Amino acid sequence: MAQWVEGRVIERIDWTPRLHSLCIEAAIEPFKAGQFTKLGLEIGGEIVGRPYSIVSAPGEPLLEFYFSTVPEGPLSPRLAQLDAGSPIQLAPKANGFLVLDEVPPSIHLWLLATGTGIGPFLSILKTAEPWQRFQRVVLVHAARAAEELTYRRAIARLLEAEPKRFSYLPMLSREPADYALAGRIPAAIADGRLEARAGLALEPALAHVMLCGNPAMIEDALAALAARGMRKHRRKEPGQISIETYW
Ligand SMILES: Cc1cc2nc3c(=O)[nH]c(=O)nc-3n(C[C@H](O)[C@H](O)[C@H](O)COP(=O)(O)OP(=O)(O)OC[C@H]3O[C@@H](n4cnc5c(N)ncnc54)[C@H](O)[C@@H]3O)c2cc1C
Ligand SMILES: NC(=O)c1ccc[n+]([C@@H]2O[C@H](COP(=O)([O-])OP(=O)(O)OC[C@H]3O[C@@H](n4cnc5c(N)ncnc54)[C@H](OP(=O)(O)O)[C@@H]3O)[C@@H](O)[C@H]2O)c1
Repeated sequence: MAQWVEGRVIERIDWTPRLHSLCIEAAIEPFKAGQFTKLGLEIGGEIVGRPYSIVSAPGEPLLEFYFSTVPEGPLSPRLAQLDAGSPIQLAPKANGFLVLDEVPPSIHLWLLATGTGIGPFLSILKTAEPWQRFQRVVLVHAARAAEELTYRRAIARLLEAEPKRFSYLPMLSREPADYALAGRIPAAIADGRLEARAGLALEPALAHVMLCGNPAMIEDALAALAARGMRKHRRKEPGQISIETYW
């Protein structure tokens, strides 16, 4: 199989000066909601590729990716400069285990993301499966500032479609807003604020938790969830937590 297939940028969305989405037309193999593939650009005579989660759901006509620019990084600042029509390389086969196939039966599904880690959860939420499998679904999006709470229109559509079963809990760590919880995800797990806001108990018999984004958040959240008797899910050793770290 070829290492790369060429795609074409159809649209770039600039949410803030450092947060962008790319909508790409490309023929990659079928993927599962929550998986990632690689995006690549030719830099200095070779293709530099990095993994990015797919925001679109399987079957949508374009592949969408949501990313932040890391100023000193080789790839992300260049991705942020691509315009409609630009060629871009993609790995043809998506990968990753942050998918509902890997989640054991549970009553409630909690999706906890920092920053661009919301991407795979948007893909999952656009499919029918979470609504067939879970009584309630909670999406927590933690960012530094209000302008970084992106994809609000897509989230509003989900709230409209599932008003009783879907909860969206925004969190802000560096500025206050009356609609958002203040601070960080692990602290809000530990002190019960996430549960209070969702109106659901976060306990092993009821919940499966998927975590995505900043590795320090994931480490701290794992510790906060361990204090509630929850542990990482493995095929051979079932648990209640699935994770994907971005760096
Ligand atoms: C499985 C997987 C899926 C990923 N999906 C996404 C995604 O959907 N969106 C996305 O923005 N990134 C995602 N990443 C990170 C992405 O692959 C790149 O590392 C990132 O875009 C920076 O690329 P770069 O070449 O500019 O710098 P790199 O050389 O790759 O990274 C330089 C440094 O930037 C920091 N960094 C990397 N990614 C981020 C980030 N997202 N936010 C803040 N700091 C970061 C780390 O400290 C890293 O060492 C994912 C990573 C993995 C492993
Ligand atoms: N956001 C910006 O305005 C901005 C501007 C320029 C450059 N950058 C750079 O871009 C990179 C990514 O920034 P980002 O804001 O997208 O992602 P981020 O640093 O992962 O922050 C996203 C959210 O995760 C929280 N977080 C960080 N560490 C955590 C932990 N251990 N436990 C729980 N939550 C934690 C942050 O809270 P805290 O706020 O408490 O850390 C913030 O609410 C960083 O390297 C940053 O230096 C960011």
